[in-house]
Amino acid sequence: MAARNFLCLIALHAARGLALGAAPSATRRQFAAGVSALAAAPLLTIAPRAASATTTASGLSYTVEKSGAGATPGIGDLAVLRWKATYNGKVFDDLFTKNDFYYHRVGSGNLVAGIEEVVLLMKSGDIWEVEIPGKLGFGAKGKKATPGQPSIPPNATLKYRLELFSVPGKDEDLIESIGGYEPPPQ
Ligand SMILES: *[C@@H]1O[C@H](CO)[C@@H](O)[C@H](O)[C@H]1NC(C)=O
Repeated sequence: MAARNFLCLIALHAARGLALGAAPSATRRQFAAGVSALAAAPLLTIAPRAASATTTASGLSYTVEKSGAGATPGIGDLAVLRWKATYNGKVFDDLFTKNDFYYHRVGSGNLVAGIEEVVLLMKSGDIWEVEIPGKLGFGAKGKKATPGQPSIPPNATLKYRLELFSVPGKDEDLIESIGGYEPPPQ
């Protein structure tokens, strides 16, 4: 227990140093020592919580990879999205590597039903792993190949790594309502 308190103290000092923006090197060394001690102390090891999947009434499921704190879009809002889409482990579209975004009018039906549904549950900044059953994807018809994209077979389960990058218009309102950033007093 004494060792534990000691480590907390180091962490506190290190945090103060970091908060001031210029930790003296001694504090940095203590911090580093604290971190390696933390790694070695089983009592203080925090096991990463296994992300569990949530299944919605429609049958799609998602796992949260990263939680954002921004706005949630509603029908008619613009949502800026990125995704990596796969079926059977085959990537058929990857906006992350293309460094591209898709500006989606929520509810327009321009994206598969599963994406339309899940975007309404997400916050700006979220990255979710989404599994979409065939009926909420390209359905019994599948999808014909288009330039740069392969065909998708009938009833294919789709997997998306989906990022709601921003909700222009709503994110700004949110920042205003929580007061935005205030610099620390001098
Ligand atoms: C796709 O699913 C529909 C509805 O469940 C079914 O009638 C059809 O036979 C399936 N098609 C294939 C190719 O599995």
